[in-house]
Amino acid sequence: MTVDALAGAAYIVAALLFILSLAGLSRHESARSGVIYGISGMTIALVATVALTVADAWTTGALLGLGLLVAAVVIGAAIGLWRARSVEMTGMPELIALLHSFVGLAAVLVGWNGYLAHPEIAAELVGIHNAEVFIGIFIGGVTFTGSIVAYLKLSAKISSKPLMLPGKNALNIGALVAFVVLTVWFVNDQQLGLLIGVTVLAFALGWHLVASIGGGDMPVVVSMLNSYSGWAAAAAGFLLNNDLLIVTGALVGSSGAYLSYVMCKAMNRSFLSVIAGGFGIAAPTATDAEYGEHHEITAESAAEMLTAARTVVITPGYGMAVAQAQYPVADLVRRLRERGVDVRFGIHPVAGRLPGHMNVLLAEAKVPYDIVLSMDEINDDLASTSVVLVIGANDTVNPAAAEDPSSPIAGMPVLKVWEAENVIVFKRSMAAGYAGVQNPLFFRDNASMLFGDAKQKVEDIIAAL
Ligand code: TAP
Repeated sequence: MTVDALAGAAYIVAALLFILSLAGLSRHESARSGVIYGISGMTIALVATVALTVADAWTTGALLGLGLLVAAVVIGAAIGLWRARSVEMTGMPELIALLHSFVGLAAVLVGWNGYLAHPEIAAELVGIHNAEVFIGIFIGGVTFTGSIVAYLKLSAKISSKPLMLPGKNALNIGALVAFVVLTVWFVNDQQLGLLIGVTVLAFALGWHLVASIGGGDMPVVVSMLNSYSGWAAAAAGFLLNNDLLIVTGALVGSSGAYLSYVMCKAMNRSFLSVIAGGFGIAAPTATDAEYGEHHEITAESAAEMLTAARTVVITPGYGMAVAQAQYPVADLVRRLRERGVDVRFGIHPVAGRLPGHMNVLLAEAKVPYDIVLSMDEINDDLASTSVVLVIGANDTVNPAAAEDPSSPIAGMPVLKVWEAENVIVFKRSMAAGYAGVQNPLFFRDNASMLFGDAKQKVEDIIAAL
């Protein structure tokens, strides 16, 4: 059997393992086996690809490809290992956004290579090849700059506020029309200028699409860019004539699109408006509303309030992850439950910075899973709760989302913590949350601010108990 045939068979096995991996990752119980299927598929795919290059070098004597492959694997593996070891849990989404940008850039380079290398192609397929080059560069370019903007926003290197250029919808639609026109032109006449034009156009469109999306919608953007990176990989697969890249790209592209759709539904956002760069979303009117005074509380008073409480709900957010407060929080929960207080957690679907962020932290601290409820499961119980502890959460408990139609996060489902008898908010200052919107909750009569690092404050409460 030839190496080509063996590699082809290995690619089919790898593709099947990727499908099993996706199926496994869709449920908590099977997630671990999903990861193992994914690693196995990727290992088989890598070994088969290396074997193909080695066989090619062996028969043709061309060692350059082999040398480049070894260099790429060594450099890529070194960077990957270093980043995977050093990344903080809170830095995961921006790392993922950056990785998507590499896929986009790779697709752009593969596209350019497809043009410059002049591969031998049957006459009747030349048009298709040229269209593949052009489309691959466009999708890759949009993914590349879009992911970089997402990285910059998620890591707070630029503001997460939506960019509101005048006529932004017309700009996006104009760019798409220009792309279609340029593609037809390029298929008929392969001028270098057209390729440069589409590359610049794609870079600009990617930048604009993601820059136009506000902080609250970033979770959807990350999964959407995940989908784009899949389509970019599939486009590169067509150019490189690599079936596995096509299949894997299509899997990532379609599952990413589906995840974006599910997240949009959960956050009450229009799927089309988010993938089209906030299409149709009007600029939020600046609200300098006077919210009044906020009240502060000490750890000792908070401890008294908790001991007197019948029911307590804890709604954690990004600040709990930053402070690494999950361990003292778990300890506090244990002590309160020992005193007969009914304690549960309410988890918003986009609390923190990545899907399931809070669940992972609480599982790490060994909080019993049966008291960790989702937003939908707990929201109706909040009105009859004695005390809600908002630990480092902000946007996900903002009443403006439910009550103020002019708010940039209007319509996003939130935990209705303000309906409880008392709310204690743990944070360090009056600063806004990720979406950059002020939170009227902090000024409500039943809300008290407990300023300071969340971990320290929870430990202070435990000491006071
Ligand atoms: P955020 O709105 O991000 O607010 C976190 C709060 O934690 C901040 O107001 C901050 O206030 C406080 N904080 C930070 N460090 C702290 C510390 N050491 N001790 C105490 N408090 C601290 O939190 P959220 O409610 O979890 O909302 C998540 C936001 O991220 C949403 O807008 C969501 O759309 C977005 N997002 C989510 C995801 C996913 S998939 N989950 C991905 C990307 C973006 P101070 O600075 O005053 O302390």
